[in-house]
Amino acid sequence: MTEYVLVTGGAGYIGSHTVVELANGGYHTIVVDNLCNSSEESIRRVEELTSTKVPFIKLDLRDQEALDKVFTDYNIKSVIHFAGLKAVGESTKIPLEYYDCNVTGAVNLLKVMQAHKVPNFVFSSSATVYGDATKYENMIPIPEECPTGPMSPYGRTKLFIEDIIRDAASADPNLKAAILRYFNPIGAHPSGRIGEDPLGIPNNLLPFIAQVAVGRREKLQVFGNDYEGSPDGTPIRDYIHVVDLAKGHLAALSKLDSIKTDGIQGFVREWNLGSGKGSTVFDIIHAFERATGKTIPYDVVARRNGDVLDLTAKPTRANIELKWEVQLSVEQACRDLWNWTTKNPLGYGHEH
Ligand code: NAD
Ligand code: UFG
Repeated sequence: MTEYVLVTGGAGYIGSHTVVELANGGYHTIVVDNLCNSSEESIRRVEELTSTKVPFIKLDLRDQEALDKVFTDYNIKSVIHFAGLKAVGESTKIPLEYYDCNVTGAVNLLKVMQAHKVPNFVFSSSATVYGDATKYENMIPIPEECPTGPMSPYGRTKLFIEDIIRDAASADPNLKAAILRYFNPIGAHPSGRIGEDPLGIPNNLLPFIAQVAVGRREKLQVFGNDYEGSPDGTPIRDYIHVVDLAKGHLAALSKLDSIKTDGIQGFVREWNLGSGKGSTVFDIIHAFERATGKTIPYDVVARRNGDVLDLTAKPTRANIELKWEVQLSVEQACRDLWNWTTKNPLGYGHEH
């Protein structure tokens, strides 16, 4: 009987790139997604890129009955859980929707997995669970042991779900979970067929830069250049190519497969997925300009609420235990983002 990896939120940005890598790695995948921030077109393109079939079921994770049916219909061995809401600013405006979607969705999924005795769980957590690591000594680059302290409802949903997974694993010897704390994913598949397609005004730096470069927006706003401790005053982040990030999920699945639990408790472990290299906002603007030959006009404006000085990963644990490390440069990510943007200036809505 064919064994499947269930990918929740697989129509989205990171999910669609991960489904490509899973297919290339010989895994059979199924995607569930409610399409609140994505389009089914991404799955169609993943199928075309990989010459495989990817069964897609449109559902919301809060619909436990619909979710249960998927586990009855398919022989699922592993779940990679991307589905959720992810805009930091929006989460401060509609926190209850964030808790409901992210936390209730994850609890439902874990319950259904338990009912069907599905062992492997990979969870999309975020570096945002660390909050401001600069307030601790020797915690930049950030190791997994760094104390957590998320600064937004979004970040708290991630930390609560992590805690729920840790509690579930201590009570269920069948559960093996990888908590992947992503740093800043950027770029697109080198084919230019799939990429990030944000609705409305992009929140994130790279999609905004790309829209300026393609003429959809006039200028970038740089949110503050008065951060003490940054070489040019702008915040420092650890940007990683989305294809490298996608491959991290295969590394985590292999790791989980190799783990034997003691029959009393399950297994759970956190891994940072980052490069270990920090870039400022100006570094990124310049990398994009070098990679594309475009000039990005910008204004420096006030700081954005909730931004912290430095989120740079210490990725040693993932390097050693998952045998995973970043292969692609920020410049490569900028080139691939530009390729995707010029081929699909309006995202999936309008093919050129
Ligand atoms: P995305 O919005 O492109 O993908 C998330 C997908 O989940 C979307 O396709 C959306 O339609 C779906 N979804 C949302 N709520 C759902 C629900 N209740 N039921 C079913 N489907 C639902 O976002 P992404 O950038 O691909 O992020 C994927 C995951 O990685 C998220 O959990 C996000 O929090 C996490 N993450 C992202 C970043 C980042 O910078 N992109 C960084 C750290 C962590
Ligand atoms: N920035 C600008 N102008 C913009 C957008 C961003 O100057 O128009 C700056 C921000 O101030 C920040 C940097 O660019 O200094 C990166 O901002 P992003 O919004 O691209 O990314 P964040 O680091 O704020 O957050 C992202 C994801 C989170 C995730 C985090 C992990 O949105 O979900 O990375 O590091 F948790």
